Amino acid sequence: MLSIRAMARFLSGGYAGDVMRNNIPTHSTASNKPVLVIGANGKTGRRLVQRLRDANLPYRQASRSTEIPFDWNDRSTWNRAIEGTGSVYITVYPDLSFPGVAENVGVFANLAVTLGAKRLVLLSGRGEEGAQDAEDRLRKSGADVTIVRCSVFNQNFSESFADAIRYGRLSMPVGDIREPFVDAEDIADVAFAALTDDSHIGQAYELTGPRLLSLPDVVAELSQAMGRSVQYEAVSVPDYAKELVDHGFSEEESLPVAQLLADVLDGRNASLTDGVKRALGREPRDFADFARAEVAAGTFNLPGGAS
Ligand SMILES: NC(=O)c1ccc[n+]([C@@H]2O[C@H](COP(=O)([O-])OP(=O)(O)OC[C@H]3O[C@@H](n4cnc5c(N)ncnc54)[C@H](OP(=O)(O)O)[C@@H]3O)[C@@H](O)[C@H]2O)c1
Repeated sequence: MLSIRAMARFLSGGYAGDVMRNNIPTHSTASNKPVLVIGANGKTGRRLVQRLRDANLPYRQASRSTEIPFDWNDRSTWNRAIEGTGSVYITVYPDLSFPGVAENVGVFANLAVTLGAKRLVLLSGRGEEGAQDAEDRLRKSGADVTIVRCSVFNQNFSESFADAIRYGRLSMPVGDIREPFVDAEDIADVAFAALTDDSHIGQAYELTGPRLLSLPDVVAELSQAMGRSVQYEAVSVPDYAKELVDHGFSEEESLPVAQLLADVLDGRNASLTDGVKRALGREPRDFADFARAEVAAGTFNLPGGAS
């Protein structure tokens, strides 16, 4: 049904070194040194890079597949990626709540501060204990920290689960709950603001979309935008883990990833916040706008051109 990893691969590529434009910047970063963007080809990292590029600000892309490689599981790659940068947008894959990840983030933050990258903006997850631990460790590093704590992204449906939507059947280990899905465009706007405006230092922004939607609501919105039907089926965590294995996940990572989805989408986050408004002074993007734009872009077209 889905392949998060295949999507990450699909999203890889593009320019991978430092980028410095000659024009006069319209914003300034913490030091006018490059912003290190970890997960630069991911859902939010890619959109942040686009904003930095549009503002003629210097940045360095980092992940396992970039010119200067960065791997969370290989600390020997960290120094080279950080050196010379002044700030970092931190995204961790697959999740901050996985064992050992918060500690890793703490070690990374201390190193970044030591190497002169003092402003750190962390993409975090709402309602996750492990993510809170990572946030705390970041703050203890002495860096200028902004936390961007997000509910589940709209773009999971267009990037990670696009095949499922395209072929008309989305299944997830999620029952009768509602979630305030948030848009990665809004997240990238907040991350950009946090990296370029001192007033966001010390803030923790909880970002949600403007509406609570169930999974049946989500497929109904997508069906309406597409003009054809998508069905939703709630499945068990072990069944979902098997689906993940069919789509390239290892046996050992499929169960934790399936369990994570079930945990985060158990209704614990079924409330709206004003995080986008607080950070940006405007309302968040609605799921219906996201759905219409993705359909217009052909995201869910069937092979052969049929929509
Ligand atoms: N998706 C959501 O709904 C959601 C909601 C709230 C919070 N979050 C948080 O957002 C973060 C990103 O999740 P996502 O699903 O949206 O992924 P993503 O950012 O779309 O993609 C993953 C990115 O991480 C890179 N990556 C993968 N493994 C890596 C490694 N070992 N070291 C360095 N980079 C690596 C990938 O590039 P390469 O393959 O080139 O390495 C890719 O750029 C997670 O911490 C997640 O908890 C996600």
